[in-house]
Parts: sequence; C-alpha cells; structure tokens
Amino acid sequence: MNILITGAAGYIGSHSTVELIQAGHHIVMLDNLINSHKVSVNCIEKITGKNVPFIECDLRNTVLVESVLRDYMIDAVIHFAGLKSVSESIKYPIEYTANNIQSTISLLIAMKNSNIKTLVFSSSATVYGEPKYLPLDELHPVSAVNPYGRNKLHIEEMLIDLVASDPLWKIISLRYFNPVGAHESGLIGENPIGIPNNLFPFISKVAAGELPYLKVYGGDYPTYDGTGIRDYIHVMDLAEGHLAALRYINKSAGYLTVNLGAGFGVSVLEVIKMYELVSHKKINYEVVERRPGDVAMCYANVDKAKLFLNWTPKRNLNAMCASAWYFQNKL
Ligand code: NAD
Ligand code: UFG
Repeated sequence: MNILITGAAGYIGSHSTVELIQAGHHIVMLDNLINSHKVSVNCIEKITGKNVPFIECDLRNTVLVESVLRDYMIDAVIHFAGLKSVSESIKYPIEYTANNIQSTISLLIAMKNSNIKTLVFSSSATVYGEPKYLPLDELHPVSAVNPYGRNKLHIEEMLIDLVASDPLWKIISLRYFNPVGAHESGLIGENPIGIPNNLFPFISKVAAGELPYLKVYGGDYPTYDGTGIRDYIHVMDLAEGHLAALRYINKSAGYLTVNLGAGFGVSVLEVIKMYELVSHKKINYEVVERRPGDVAMCYANVDKAKLFLNWTPKRNLNAMCASAWYFQNKL
C-alpha cells in the first residue's frame, strides 16, 4: 500500500515507518519537525536501505496535504502528528487545541477531497482518566482530565461521527499506553527536545551522567512498593501493532478502538532496577512529592488487540531498557 505517515519523524512515527517499509509498504513521511529532527529520515533510510520521500509541512496546510495525497496515490494514512505533553497542554491549552484538533480536521478534509477513507489514529490511554477498574479495557468509561486528553477524546468523537456519516470510511483509533525503548539498530529512539518529562528518556540521561538524579514522583501510592505503576510497551511492538491494524482495516469497515499495551503494570522502582541491570550503571534517585495529574496505576487489557488484530506484544522490560540504553549510547 501507499501510506502517508504524519508525524513520521517523531518517536513512534519513525519506528512504525521502519516496520511498514520492511513489510513492503511504500511510505511518504510528513512532519513539520516541531518536536523532531530531520536526521531521523536519514536514519530510517539507513536502516531500511530505501529512499523515503519526506515532506516538511504543517498538517494544517490542507492544500499541500491534499496534493501529497494525490501525487503519491496514497491509499491510507497513519496519523501520529500532534503535540503530546500533558503538562505543556495544561500550560498552553489553546496552542494544543489549535495544533492537535486543527491539524486533524485539515487532514480529514484533505483525505475526503481526495477520496481516501482509510485512517489509523494515535490515541492514548489518557482518555480513560482516573481508572475505575483495572486492567483498562476499551469499554472503560472515558473522561478528559487535561487538555491533551480532551484533544484525543474530541478527535476520537469526530472520527466516530465521520464513520457514521459515510460507511466507506475505515478508521481505527489505537490507544497507546506507555511506549518506551528503541529500534535494535540504536539509530532511532526517543530523544525529546529539552529536559525529558517521561520516565525512560529521563533515566537514560541519568544513566549516561547527563542528569544528576531522577525524581521519583510519589512513594506513597497504594501500590506494592509505593511508586506509580504503568504499562510500558516496547516501541517496536507498538510499530508491529500498526502493521496489524492496517491488515485488519483492509478487510473490514467502520470504526474500531483498540488498546496497545503490554498488558501488565510495572512500578517506577522496578524500571530503575532493570535499567541498572542492563546498563551496569547506578541510577541515582530521590523520592519526591507526587506529580499533579498522575494516577497510581494504569495498565491495559489487550485482549481486543489479540482478537481483532491478531497482535500480541513480544518484548519484555529487559528488552525495553536494553534498547533505550543502546540508543542513548549512540547519541
Ligand atoms: P513525537 O512528538 O515524537 O512525534 C509527533 C510528531 O508530530 C513530531 O515529529 C512533530 O514534529 C509532529 N507534528 C506535531 N504537530 C504537527 C503538525 N501540525 N504538522 C506536522 N507535524 C506535526 O510524539 P510520539 O511519542 O511519536 O507520539 C506520536 C503520537 O502518539 C502523538 O499523537 C501522541 O499524542 C500519541 N501518543 C504518544 C504517547 C507517548 O507516550 N509517546 C502515548 C500515547 C499517545
Ligand atoms: N515518573 C517519575 N519521574 C519522572 C518521570 C516520570 O517518577 O521524572 C513516573 C510517573 O510519576 C509515572 C511513571 O513514571 O508513575 C511514568 O511517567 P511518564 O511521564 O513516563 O508517563 P505517563 O504515564 O505520565 O504518561 C504517558 C505519556 C502520556 C500518555 C500516557 C498514556 O506521557 O502522553 O502515557 O498512558 F497519555
């Protein structure tokens, strides 16, 4: 298939691009590089041995996006592009909505005008809000607890409306849990601009001696060791999930929501221990106050992904930490 990947230079987009190219798809990468570097395009070309067209463009430029869809005879779109920091979204709610909602509307209009109606959308476990039960399945009630989450929910609702308006649309929203780790080549991985907000890239920088210590946000959660529990999923398992979603969508119609996670929870202290094991480095940390907005536990029920997409994650916490560390050392 000819696939347009929006946000392709970013963390999950770049890994998924590699996976899809290696599965024989023809990819066109699109990104405005607001949170990524063009060098990831060269790295993808190096890993896959293929030239990959890259369009540097803001998704809100509907006319340009439409011409890309037509010129490259695109069959389907995977929509990763967006701003993704919860804390930033609380500080800059208008900018988040202006980017995340407007760019999605722009993409959908361009797709509609070009008669391309197959879409995979990057949603997030954040749409579940404070868990009412665990593990979280797709029937768990949704609620927006921050502007970023509200953007994701709003987009999911737009997509449901779209499919209801025209049954030729085929759309899957994938709700990711906590993607971590890197491609085995160490050429691409998670390298955010500035000081990382997320646990894994922060630990990598502490292990490398670039940051002095990790603040563990909260040691008094009602969990087995008092620290927060999350469902960390290897980014290459996630990339394979996109391939599985495309396979499914080709044989079906309508709208589907699917969780992509490892299906089990791991505490912050367990991540630290595993990272120390694979890196042979001491991770200095201090337990501090809880981070506002964090929940105690969040992990997925991934039965629906197995049932509908025939996808199950394969890589364990050791592989997640080892690949993140290998990538950090290649930076
Ligand atoms: P990322 O920031 O690494 O990648 C997103 C890419 O989108 C960036 O390269 C950025 O430059 C680009 N972009 C942003 N706005 C754009 C616009 N208007 N036009 C064109 N390009 C634009 O983030 P990621 O971790 O790869 O996340 C990808 C998607 O997955 C996002 O939609 C994010 O909300 C979602 N998601 C991520 C996580 C996570 O923990 N990483 C969890 C759940 C959901
Ligand atoms: N944590 C620390 N110290 C840090 C960073 C994180 O102790 O410096 C802890 C957090 O308190 C939490 C865990 O590590 O318990 C994971 O935190 P992350 O910031 O890595 O990830 P979150 O679970 O907060 O959020 C991530 C994405 C969101 C997405 C969500 C979906 O950042 O965009 O997963 O589950 F919505």
